[in-house]
Amino acid sequence: MNQNIQLTLNFVKKELENAETGHDWWHIERVWKTAKAIADEEKVDTNVVEFAALLHDIADSKFHNGDEEIGPQKAGDFLRSLAVDEETVVHVQLIIRNMSFKTSLGQVQFSSPEMQVVQDADRLDAIGAIGIARAFTYGGYKNRELYNPAIQPKINQSKEAYKNSTAPTINHFYEKLLLLKDQMNTAKGKEMAQQRHTFMLQYLEQFYAEWEGKR
Ligand code: ADP
Ligand code: NI
Repeated sequence: MNQNIQLTLNFVKKELENAETGHDWWHIERVWKTAKAIADEEKVDTNVVEFAALLHDIADSKFHNGDEEIGPQKAGDFLRSLAVDEETVVHVQLIIRNMSFKTSLGQVQFSSPEMQVVQDADRLDAIGAIGIARAFTYGGYKNRELYNPAIQPKINQSKEAYKNSTAPTINHFYEKLLLLKDQMNTAKGKEMAQQRHTFMLQYLEQFYAEWEGKR
């Protein structure tokens, strides 16, 4: 492994040691590995992809009073301390700034092949078996019901409504997770998302059957 990537990995691991969020080190490690796998099939600067994957959740603005600049700032300071070239630093900062789901609901200000790879990897971690586990972990943390047949999913909610929703975790599948496969950028990302998507549909079918005592 490239020395600077190793140093970045160590830095992020340390920073996220006490992360109270859904963005623990293992999320970062999975996104990094997936991003590398996708990057193998794309014409991209793998250094930019790896730095951005490792640093993309270094400061989640949801936990910093909505200050969107803390993440890019922290990432930039760190990369400059490694004497990484300025073009790479700025590119990584642009990716981090523009990657959140929130941004993808609204206007996208920046895109590059490298950004598309990292975004695909991050989205893939929200779907499939791991995505299901993460959703129920989040739901448990928020004291949500698993499922409630009387509460319908709401597609296209406002950002605020989505954030303050107390809907059961199953609704999150319809409000976000099942929509992600159509938002993938790369060929490999699309292929992986399709596989994970099919698995989630199977999971839901089994879930409803069990709910009715039918399987
Ligand atoms: P991102 O990683 O795109 O920033 P979030 O921080 O919003 O996403 O969410 C982290 C994890 O928690 C993801 O796996 C996401 O699906 C899950 N999650 C977010 N909101 C909900 C929700 N309302 N119900 C269930 N899971 C959720
Ligand atoms: Ni992430």
